[in-house]
Amino acid sequence: MKRHNLQLDDQGQLRHFLTVEGLSRALLVEILDRAETFAGVASRSVKKVPLLRGKTVINLFFESSTRTRTTFELAAKRLSADVLNINIATSATNKGESLLDTLRNLEAMHCDMFVVRHNQSGAAPFFAAHVAPHISVINAGDGSHAHPTQAMLDAFTIRQVKGDFHRLKVAVVGDILHSRVARSQIHALTTLGVDELRVVGPKTLVPDSVASLGAHIFHDLSAGLRDVDVVIMLRLQRERMQGAFLPSVHEYFHLYGLTEEKLALARPDAIVLHPGPINRGVEIDSRVADGKQSVILQQVSNGIAVRMAIMSMVLGRQTENPEVKH
Ligand code: CP
Repeated sequence: MKRHNLQLDDQGQLRHFLTVEGLSRALLVEILDRAETFAGVASRSVKKVPLLRGKTVINLFFESSTRTRTTFELAAKRLSADVLNINIATSATNKGESLLDTLRNLEAMHCDMFVVRHNQSGAAPFFAAHVAPHISVINAGDGSHAHPTQAMLDAFTIRQVKGDFHRLKVAVVGDILHSRVARSQIHALTTLGVDELRVVGPKTLVPDSVASLGAHIFHDLSAGLRDVDVVIMLRLQRERMQGAFLPSVHEYFHLYGLTEEKLALARPDAIVLHPGPINRGVEIDSRVADGKQSVILQQVSNGIAVRMAIMSMVLGRQTENPEVKH
């Protein structure tokens, strides 16, 4: 069975959420539309809906995270699920317990969902292939493979500000080679039908293979930014680099850093996204990161509604109680 089919049940509904690759446009739009219905929950006096009452979600983060872990936790709590955050640093993983044994032990606690982040590509699909049939797995970022919920919250933010995808030229700038976010964004934005998707970066950090996914490759930042509606900046994933990919960080900022002058080449109403964490003065200047065209913190807020949408679609399949409507 192909990896991306593992996430769909016999009815074509989401059983796991592991990658955007292979999902239909209709399903991606359903996620965005459902997220829109949850966006208002944050401004209610009681920020909760009862959709996942009685369900248990376990956050399993084997790699550092600020935004993804906390917004998954908030999303699960706002859906009324019980949430456990496993602290991997103090777990029995340190005593040599295998991933599969950790999984079996957590399964024995009768949970319904694992949210998994791991530095190894393929970790989330591995979990999905081995969990009990009633348990769902959501990929919160695995190695350089995929970060599908990040791509969906980016798409949600773009649609929220810009509307219809079909008119939009989007540039994804930076370390494409090591970026799970870039890979998921390319799948999401091409499936959602953007007019043009550009990837911009040095030859060492842009694999030729992205052209086969429908992206246009640029190695010159000024050319890549000209007349785009959306600029997505990416962090240099130095922890994943083995060898010399760059002359120096100073040189990188000079050639590929987003400054106000470079941003002026895009459309005047262009927006700037970044999945975070941002490295000021490496890929982005503070005046752009904090400027009026930046929607970086809006992305973080939207992460909660989008993750609520995905969790409720995955676990909602099993919910038969007619009371649990939002
Ligand atoms: N965007 C993102 O994945 O950020 P964190 O590593 O803080 O979760």
